[in-house]
Amino acid sequence: MMKREPYTDGYALITGATGGLGKAFAHTLAKRGARLILTGRSEEKLIALKNELLTKYAVSEVLYFAADLADEAGRGALMSQIKAKACAIRLLVNAAGADVQKPFAEYTQEKLIFQTRVNFEAAVSLCRFAYENRAARLEIINIASVSGLYPMPYFALYSATKSALTSFSVALREEWKKDNVAVTAILPGAMPTRADIKEQIKGQGLWGKLAAKSPESVAEYSLKAVRKNKRKAIVGFWNKLMRVGTAILPQSWKLRFIAKRWSKIKKDAF
Ligand SMILES: NC(=O)c1ccc[n+]([C@@H]2O[C@H](COP(=O)([O-])OP(=O)(O)OC[C@H]3O[C@@H](n4cnc5c(N)ncnc54)[C@H](OP(=O)(O)O)[C@@H]3O)[C@@H](O)[C@H]2O)c1
Repeated sequence: MMKREPYTDGYALITGATGGLGKAFAHTLAKRGARLILTGRSEEKLIALKNELLTKYAVSEVLYFAADLADEAGRGALMSQIKAKACAIRLLVNAAGADVQKPFAEYTQEKLIFQTRVNFEAAVSLCRFAYENRAARLEIINIASVSGLYPMPYFALYSATKSALTSFSVALREEWKKDNVAVTAILPGAMPTRADIKEQIKGQGLWGKLAAKSPESVAEYSLKAVRKNKRKAIVGFWNKLMRVGTAILPQSWKLRFIAKRWSKIKKDAF
């Protein structure tokens, strides 16, 4: 059995820590006694999470910094605050993300900049920051998505940002492996983290039941994958099967199928 990584020789920095998956990472790591740096936009949610972790686990340190990752100045302030505390980064989990789903013509400029920045630019920027401020070993988990495996009409920007994040992670892993840095892109399918996603999973019937994974299991799986320095990892048997099974289908069929299905769902994020 693989030894569990305690992550005590540095800090685990989690973005999107107040969201469903980020929280699952925070709990999983706190259980192992990791020293944590949590970030999200809401200070109130961060304080509540910190208190919950301190009550539940024998965690030695939980720092939190509220920051808007879509905002360059906010991101800069986050980095300065972490640097000022001289925290060496042992693990970076880029879990923050925004999943806007609607026809691209309905996006405002503001919305598309926001989504691109949170899903891609902030993750890339934090990889660079973590590298510069790393502990003797650094592990980076970039949360992409199976939605990045295909170009997705009506989910085009989300899918493109996740595809870019996967591609970036795979290349970066190669550059940094000589420096004792592991980089893994995780490609989850659906996780029931919010009410709208739970509804969506329900609407997918048997497929939803089979393919959806709990955020806790995705967090565990991700930590194992980066430990093994996997390049990228699709989460779950059914999502892997979907990838293999659709590989031989013509692109035009896939695009038509996705467009038909995804044009029926609309959701927003800010
Ligand atoms: N759930 C799924 O089905 C699914 C499937 C595949 C991939 N993913 C990916 O997995 C990751 C986590 O998803 P989730 O379901 O846990 O999402 P979630 O519950 O909606 O949480 C999103 C997190 O991102 C943070 N965030 C959003 N915009 C931000 C910004 N501008 N600055 C800083 N933080 C920001 C939110 O913080 P606030 O507290 O500030 O809002 C929250 O902590 C995302 O990258 C998502 O794309 C999710």
